[in-house]
Amino acid sequence: PVLVVDYGAQYAQLIARRVREAQVYSEVVPHTASMAEMLDRNPSAIILSGGPSSVYAGDAPDVDPALFDAGVPVFGICYGFQVMARALGGTVEHTGTREFGRTEVDVSGGQLHEELPARHPVWMSHGDCVTKAPEGFDVTASSEGAPVAGFENVGRGFAGVQYHPEVAHSPHGQEVLRRFLQEVAHIRPQWTTSSIVDEQVARIRTEIGDGHAICALSGGVDSAVAGALVQRAIGERLTCVLVDHGLLRAGERTQVERDFVAATGVNLVTVDAREQFLAALAGVSDPEEKRKIIGREFIRVFEEAARDLKEQGDAEFLVQGTLYPDVVESGGGTGTSNIKSHHNVGGLPEDLQFTLVEPLRLLFKDEVRRVGLELGLPETIVHRQPFPGPGLGIRIIGDVTGDRLDTLRAADAIAREELSAAGLDHDIWQCPVVLLADVRSVGVQGDGRTYGHPVVLRPVSSEDAMTADWTRLPYDVLERISTRITNEVAEVNRVVLDVTSKPPGTIEWE
Ligand code: XMP
Repeated sequence: PVLVVDYGAQYAQLIARRVREAQVYSEVVPHTASMAEMLDRNPSAIILSGGPSSVYAGDAPDVDPALFDAGVPVFGICYGFQVMARALGGTVEHTGTREFGRTEVDVSGGQLHEELPARHPVWMSHGDCVTKAPEGFDVTASSEGAPVAGFENVGRGFAGVQYHPEVAHSPHGQEVLRRFLQEVAHIRPQWTTSSIVDEQVARIRTEIGDGHAICALSGGVDSAVAGALVQRAIGERLTCVLVDHGLLRAGERTQVERDFVAATGVNLVTVDAREQFLAALAGVSDPEEKRKIIGREFIRVFEEAARDLKEQGDAEFLVQGTLYPDVVESGGGTGTSNIKSHHNVGGLPEDLQFTLVEPLRLLFKDEVRRVGLELGLPETIVHRQPFPGPGLGIRIIGDVTGDRLDTLRAADAIAREELSAAGLDHDIWQCPVVLLADVRSVGVQGDGRTYGHPVVLRPVSSEDAMTADWTRLPYDVLERISTRITNEVAEVNRVVLDVTSKPPGTIEWE
């Protein structure tokens, strides 16, 4: 792999994603990883990432100079560029000129910048700068605040830039990264979706051997793709379990029972637990209380299904849809320790011992979607909106009843239908529809007065759900949604739009 050394800023994961976009496999390692640990991974190149430190700070993370004698190509970015310059005998100074944001660089040839415009915009974020390149290096870029904004020694496989090529604000950045990987480090681009599937399938076969596995399908993309991958690897010996807790969206159960099964040929067991969940939720309106109840009931139901299968000898392995960002964020890196457990099945009791299988633990979300398509899953499953584990239960403000769920399900289906029809599925992250079940307002419909409930549309745009902005949906789409919901859903006489970003509002209302 290409190893991206994380110096503690938020950029390392993004760099790893960009490297993979260039069809080269990459992983993030903490800067505390030793040389030996890194070399053990047999890296095809090492990228030193940006970080918040100044190379002059007493506790600034450094790089082992031996790295540069290991015969591995190295690319330095921002802080990593300065660390590299210093380790190789160049000069880094605190000049007092800071550059933040969009900056123009002038480039003069070299492998990295060949064929790029002589002057182009890049994203900078630095206080210190390299004033003298190390011996044997060509200076290939400069900006007003950074006399040496890029250097390279192609013979040794070394290069670096002061700016951030990984961010979208550096429009030629991806090309620069690609050129480093291909022209300087001479790595062949082989990380394609079909190679990902082949590799993961081989890995899962080794892990599970001739054992049996079980997988909970939550209705989300991750569990669907994880299940499909494991099915591809071990076929019949996987059983998927769908818990219908009655909090699913319209058509979701059918989508799994019919479309997912048709696409994958997976063994599916559906457990109808709708009554059980409704009974447990009766009279509860506190959001945290609802979440606890739903989580607890889910585990009860799933545990029972798992126990049955285990007793029949049909399950020793439990499939979880953990993604790479969770692995990195929980400090897992390349090891196996300390992985965040999936909220849905993390609470299985001790005596039900399963070995975890995490077929997506090396993949980013966009890779998961591509793998899903490669495995033949329908678009409707692969590109569906994220949906919270507690389902519609946390989109009813007030206590949850069967009737309220039916009302919300109908309104939600209309909103989703109209958003899809308008071709907006790829522009929005998700659009929760929320039923304000304890609020009533007066309306007029036909000849009569109504006294119904409002629903809230909550369309948001986001990269990762950590922050979000409300989506500026076209008025005509909003109008169609509003008209249809008030006409077709009897209990709803008002549709309102949530125009709050996150923060301060969360995406879900509860
Ligand atoms: P918030 O409301 O925290 O939501 O801004 C961020 C993202 O997480 C989803 N979400 C959940 N997903 N279990 C889940 O699996 C949950 O309990 C849960 N709560 C929120 C939400 O839909 C959004 O995508």
